[in-house]
Amino acid sequence: MRACVLLFSGLMAAGAGMTAVGCSGGEQEIKSIKIGVTVYDQYDTFVAQLMTEFDRYAAIKEEETGVAVNVEVYNAADSQSTQNGQVESMIEEGCNVICVNLVDRTDPTTIIDMAEKSNVPIIFFNRELVEEDLERWEHLYYVGAEAFESGIMEGELAAEAFAEDASLDKNGDGVFQYVVLEGEAGHQDAIVRTEYSVSTIVQNGVEVEKLGYAIANWNRAQAQTKMAQLLSEYGDAIELVLANNDDMALGAIDALKAADIPREEWPAVVGIDGTDVGLEAVKNGEMIGTVYNDKEGQALAMLELAYGLSTGGDLSDLELLEGKYIRLPYSKVTADVVDDYIKNSDAEE
Ligand code: GAL
Repeated sequence: MRACVLLFSGLMAAGAGMTAVGCSGGEQEIKSIKIGVTVYDQYDTFVAQLMTEFDRYAAIKEEETGVAVNVEVYNAADSQSTQNGQVESMIEEGCNVICVNLVDRTDPTTIIDMAEKSNVPIIFFNRELVEEDLERWEHLYYVGAEAFESGIMEGELAAEAFAEDASLDKNGDGVFQYVVLEGEAGHQDAIVRTEYSVSTIVQNGVEVEKLGYAIANWNRAQAQTKMAQLLSEYGDAIELVLANNDDMALGAIDALKAADIPREEWPAVVGIDGTDVGLEAVKNGEMIGTVYNDKEGQALAMLELAYGLSTGGDLSDLELLEGKYIRLPYSKVTADVVDDYIKNSDAEE
């Protein structure tokens, strides 16, 4: 199939990465598009796996449509000013659309101003900016998930485990003593997941007691260090580790192993993401469960949106909420169903 679409807007016409040749009736044939991407940190496990999926869907799209889908990915390495510079270069290079995984979700102004001035649409993803910022121009979009849903599911996993396995209540007081490992301060997922996971456990009839918490910035090594500190402070009293993501849950497990704590004395550890390593830890029983953050769904939505915006195609199939948002649902992963998720990723390779 060849893409042959109407040149109807300035957005498309502005795209220097696009080759247009004559078609009958004033239509133009798009031969190639250029999608720019900048990620806040290329070493973030979930974001890296999301980008792998994005590249895979771009290759499939190219094959299906015959339109060359060029994707350029930049690493902002945790610097908002670096990221602003990358967006500026991508605009100059003629990217048709730019996908931005903001470093600082409260600071999108420079990017939005540049995009509007050059008429290049922006798809923000994974790190959600506030609604007022997204409303500042009509060609700004967001692809991600609903953070509270992941918190609720994490809380349900913990409450179900407590109800089913009496040994998790190590001191037998009927109360689930927990610690929290949090992602970056100010990140929507960190704030909302912490709040909803705890309130859901309580709503499910389990009494809880917070022993401590630590910020580990989504990072496994930082989580190991922080968990080692929590262990030296609270030791055996910790019955549950609520981690805002899988990498930090795995860091907590690294700390339990490094402290030579026998497996039967480990607290329950629960995460979010369903990264490859996270799913493996659910399968081997080291984690009681995780919440699947649908990287395939998010990557596909980003790609379809980017393609539609670059080619002037129809966006109605994408069912954009308020014309701007695409949010993919989460799902709970326990040992019973983990193989479906592991198989899924194998099947798609
Ligand atoms: C979250 C994800 C984390 C981390 C973060 C980065 O959605 O669960 O693991 O990748 O995004 O913004």
